Amino acid sequence: MDGFLGTRAPLFPDVVVASLAAVVPLLLTGVVLAKRGRTAAHKTVMFATYHVLLAVVIAFVVWNAVAGTTVDGLEEAWFYRSFYLPFIAGHVVLAVFTVLFAGWVTWRAIRRRSEGADGQPSFDPKETGHHRRTGWVAVVLLVLTAASGLVIYWIRYVHDYGG
Ligand code: HEM
Repeated sequence: MDGFLGTRAPLFPDVVVASLAAVVPLLLTGVVLAKRGRTAAHKTVMFATYHVLLAVVIAFVVWNAVAGTTVDGLEEAWFYRSFYLPFIAGHVVLAVFTVLFAGWVTWRAIRRRSEGADGQPSFDPKETGHHRRTGWVAVVLLVLTAASGLVIYWIRYVHDYGG
């Protein structure tokens, strides 16, 4: 089935790439909410973002195994072996590590939060420092995973191989 982004991609990669593109503004929203002390909303946004990414990664792996497409001209391109294959491998490793790391950050935040006087979730000071550090690492990893996914989409479905 054709995708909806106007490229040569089938529907499924378009759904994945649109979800990946949404990860960046969602994370930004989550960080701004945390900085403004709206930690209940921060929790909801980060929790949702993480699960969107998790669902996308699992669904994409299944789709690739069952119905993955080939791209005419890609295997003959000069960058196929030198860049594309190592980049794909790096992206997969990064995506799996990111899902595990961000899952740990989310799980630990939920386990260790308590309710502040204002009804918003909060941590004790030591845990706050830990969550801020690991939270920022998770944000950077999530952005890199999304960005590398977008590069792969471009190589597969936007770049013109002259075929
Ligand atoms: C993928 C999941 C998450 C990521 C990437 C993440 C990331 C972050 C980041 C980067 C900050 C620091 C913002 C700043 O510099 O001020 C932060 C703060 C905070 N996060 Fe998360 N977070 C996640 C999930 C959660 C969850 C599930 C909770 C649930 C309770 C939570 C509670 C908090 C709180 C209470 C703060 C404020 C800490 C403080 O300054 O007192 N976070 N988070």
